[in-house]
Amino acid sequence: MTDPGPDGAGPRPRAVPTPDGPLEVCGDLTIAVPGERDPVRTDRTWFCRCGHSANKPFCDGSHRRVGFRGGGLRRLPVRATDEPGQEVGALRVRPRENGSLFLEGWVHLETEDGEAGWIENVSMCRCGLSENRPLCDSSHKGSDFAAPGAE
Ligand code: FES
Repeated sequence: MTDPGPDGAGPRPRAVPTPDGPLEVCGDLTIAVPGERDPVRTDRTWFCRCGHSANKPFCDGSHRRVGFRGGGLRRLPVRATDEPGQEVGALRVRPRENGSLFLEGWVHLETEDGEAGWIENVSMCRCGLSENRPLCDSSHKGSDFAAPGAE
């Protein structure tokens, strides 16, 4: 059961980094999958953030094998707001080629200290190298991280 959205209708779109594991994303999700013509529609799934899944952008459990260490969000992005914009609707998820996981739409984030906020359109790390995990800090650039993208 997913949390209700701010207007009580539909699931609350949120992105939650699990301890030393994948990024759990909930909401009315439309996921672009590399090599697939049609997007996947779901209300919850887990995305790889260690960079080692053989089924990117999804987690396949490889984070355990590689001993991935990744905590929660330390601080909200500066542009986060207390309330979402008027239109909290579907969240579009697009893995960028050799890059981040782009969440397009409003999404709710919470820090390890319990500070919460909303942000519209945000790039999440999926290479495992960001110093600001779970957010992308462009560390994938110049690394050997390779992963297919999808629009
Ligand atoms: S986080 Fe699970 S395989 Fe990468």
